[in-house]
Amino acid sequence: MEKRIKVKDLLKCEAGRKVTVKGWVRTKRGNKNVAFIALNDGSTINNIQIVVDKTAFEESLLTKITTGAAIRVSGDLVESVGSGQSVEIQAGEIEIYGECDPMRYPLQKKDTSFEYLRTVAHMRPRTNTFGAILRIRNQMAFAIHKFFNEKGFVYLHTPLITASDCEGAGQMFKVTTLDLENVPRNKKGEVDYTKDFFGKETSLTVSGQLEGELGATALGEIYTFGPTFRAENSNTPRHLAEFWMIEPEMAFYDIKDNMDLAEEFIKYLVKHALDNCMDDIKFLNDRYDNELISRLESVADTEFVRLPYTEGIRILEEAIANGTSFEYPVGWGTDLQSEHERYLVEQHFKKPVILTDYPKDIKAFYMKQNEDGKTVRAMDVLFPKIGEIIGGSEREASLEKLENRISELGMSRRGLEWYIDTRRFGSVPHSGFGLGFERLLLFVTGMSNIRDVIPFPRTPKNAEY
Ligand code: 4AD
Ligand code: MG
Repeated sequence: MEKRIKVKDLLKCEAGRKVTVKGWVRTKRGNKNVAFIALNDGSTINNIQIVVDKTAFEESLLTKITTGAAIRVSGDLVESVGSGQSVEIQAGEIEIYGECDPMRYPLQKKDTSFEYLRTVAHMRPRTNTFGAILRIRNQMAFAIHKFFNEKGFVYLHTPLITASDCEGAGQMFKVTTLDLENVPRNKKGEVDYTKDFFGKETSLTVSGQLEGELGATALGEIYTFGPTFRAENSNTPRHLAEFWMIEPEMAFYDIKDNMDLAEEFIKYLVKHALDNCMDDIKFLNDRYDNELISRLESVADTEFVRLPYTEGIRILEEAIANGTSFEYPVGWGTDLQSEHERYLVEQHFKKPVILTDYPKDIKAFYMKQNEDGKTVRAMDVLFPKIGEIIGGSEREASLEKLENRISELGMSRRGLEWYIDTRRFGSVPHSGFGLGFERLLLFVTGMSNIRDVIPFPRTPKNAEY
């Protein structure tokens, strides 16, 4: 028997040779004499057609070839007479690896809505749509490493278990081995974390940034790329409790350098998708969103708008004065909601916007303070259909200002001294940002719910698989 060839490669082969292919049956149709099997092995959105001369096989074998069944086919690769593909296989030998009961196969149901497929997320990678999304996800992860590798950034592995709250929002999942039925308490009646596994209170990280800054102030330019956890109880199409974040952190970068890098990075990723995932993107474009390709192409070669927050608020207030209505209020000092971000991007500028210089009270403690005493050197990159896709800033490099901000916010310095040390010993101007991997994938795939771009989504009340 010939060595197995993947469908993706097979479809590029010349006819006139013997081949072996292995995969899952997508469909079987035909007539009394001949059956046509569409076989897929996950290597591409495209199927290979298998032509079966029914007289040459046992009826008992043929009935086992149903949608979802796993099979091997060996035979002749011949030119395809039908439309679509250039080659097909004339089956010589068929082996059934795993049968699939058509009555019970979850993907046989008429209901193929995204909502239904989320309930069978263990099977949904077998569909065309999720196969496409997961292959694009893989390509994007590769492109991220490629981009930073080409620039000489060091991939730094920051911890998932941490004792600090980077974003200061308190939306952390606790990590403990304490017996919740019988929690040890100290004399004051508080939970005695000295008895816990790490001897202190620990959580799953909301960001690798603080540790990233340690790396950047030694290695120069680093990036992290890993799972990130947020216990925010927001059931929106843009939030996950477990998502992946890419966080570059660079010594000697000011806010402008930071914006330049963010823009270059995201354009590189979109171009990579267009250059390497076109079969899958085209499928998603034709099936769900016929503006997907043009949206990707336009972002790949558009200059992003750069605008201070204060200007953004003025534009939104003007829009309201002219009759636009928003669900949430707008005013200087309020955090922007996704509807406001999308108004700026989709209605007003019609291109991605980098909003800068936000009020310090709605941003994290580590951001560099502006001279006005009111704003910080923050930058959020806002995207069509998504809203915020990147959040970042120049960091406060002054020891004194950082310490003042920490005490102003009433934060505990305990457990942060190691971070403050970066400002004590050879402090430098530095900057960084975080790109939400799934938000990027929403943009690249055109999907509208973040649960549909991660294989096994974790959201409030949902941790299946
Ligand atoms: O804006 P955020 O909270 O920024 C930080 O965590 C910084 N420490 C990053 C840095 O400067 N190194 O989060 C960054 C990005 C957001 O813009 C968004 O794309 C994504 O992470 N994100 C989420 N994605 C999915 N689900 C959630 N719950 C998310 N929260 C943030
Ligand atoms: Mg943010």
